[in-house]
Amino acid sequence: MAYPIDKIREDFPILHQKINDKPLIYFDNSATTQKPKPVIERISDYYLYYNSNVHRGVHHLSQVATEAYEKARQYVADYIHAKESSEIVFTRGTTESINLLANCLLPWIGSGDEVLISAMEHHSNLVPWQQLCQKQKANMRVLPVDIQGNLDLDFLDKLLNTQTKLLAITHISNVLGTINPIKEIIEVAHRKGVPVLIDGAQGIAHTQVDISKLKADFYVFSGHKVYAPMGIGVLYGRKTWLQRLPPYQFGGEMIGHVSFEKTTFNELPYKYEAGTPNVAGALGLETALRYVDTIGIHNISAHEDRLLQKATEKLQNIDGMRIIGTAKHKAAVLSFIVNGIHPYDLDTLLNQMGIAVRTGHHCAQPLIDFLGIPGTVRASFGMYNTVEEVDIFADAVAQAVKMLR
Ligand code: ALA
Repeated sequence: MAYPIDKIREDFPILHQKINDKPLIYFDNSATTQKPKPVIERISDYYLYYNSNVHRGVHHLSQVATEAYEKARQYVADYIHAKESSEIVFTRGTTESINLLANCLLPWIGSGDEVLISAMEHHSNLVPWQQLCQKQKANMRVLPVDIQGNLDLDFLDKLLNTQTKLLAITHISNVLGTINPIKEIIEVAHRKGVPVLIDGAQGIAHTQVDISKLKADFYVFSGHKVYAPMGIGVLYGRKTWLQRLPPYQFGGEMIGHVSFEKTTFNELPYKYEAGTPNVAGALGLETALRYVDTIGIHNISAHEDRLLQKATEKLQNIDGMRIIGTAKHKAAVLSFIVNGIHPYDLDTLLNQMGIAVRTGHHCAQPLIDFLGIPGTVRASFGMYNTVEEVDIFADAVAQAVKMLR
């Protein structure tokens, strides 16, 4: 069956507008994706017809909202092949999920212990561990990356040792597009008895995530990177871990019983969901994942691969072009710089041509420093982008480069 690009584009009204008198080309999907109509309608229906607090009322609306919220959790669990819905904690996003873990794992990490990350981590999967290590007098170690954007896996085995308390690593780099071989990485870490957290912020949008095969201890992601609303995210945690760790925040819903002397905590996953949750966000996330599933994540990634390949080929013809991130296994993230031209100048001209890309260090400053570049221009593709858009984009980059020379 042909990829249903026309039908998909119809579902995203935001794409059908002009920016600076030019049809919008939205190539900033790694920053956030647009939302299809069914997701927007789901949120709107919730607020129009059954908005109510969950797990707190006997009244009808509260029951309807609670049931919908828990069904959303079950759907997320099924989508990533988690064993149980109680392993799915709703958070605000990847950043909050990682901060939650950095807080809860604190008692497990002491003086002289190590947390291993990689050189291609987003600040969200670096700063929380760095701060934790500083607090605990532990050491943060870094798995190196080569100039193409591949992790040095020979080094992984050497870096993992008896002091290593966690390996925290990204599934897909938001700068380089590298798809890391996380299944193998997890196997190596587990052989050494080290638990693994996967930052799936980019992974969830471009690949199938199957926890039952990956066997990650933790997998975290944000809804907004996968066509769901902002402000909703997921912490998948293996049940034995979630049972063992202490709560993150204290307040309503996360308690079992409270007296002035003592508090007992609620069962999973509520122990980690203090306060009123983002119910509309969770419903939007369920609808977004259903939408992706209807098209098929493999079809989406095959489509995005075609766009990536074509864009890469066309950009390479531009004089002075340097593609940043040339690993063999790449998702639809295309970072580049052009000799003698500042990335921001290029971005400014692209914006004038109606093209949305992202420029800068992409919240991965140590990686950009290692590469010795001022930042990159990054085009990142989503399920609704077209080959025609790639053609226009490549011509626009060529034209902008000419103007800036
Ligand atoms: N992490 C997001 C990005 O890469 C914001 O753009």
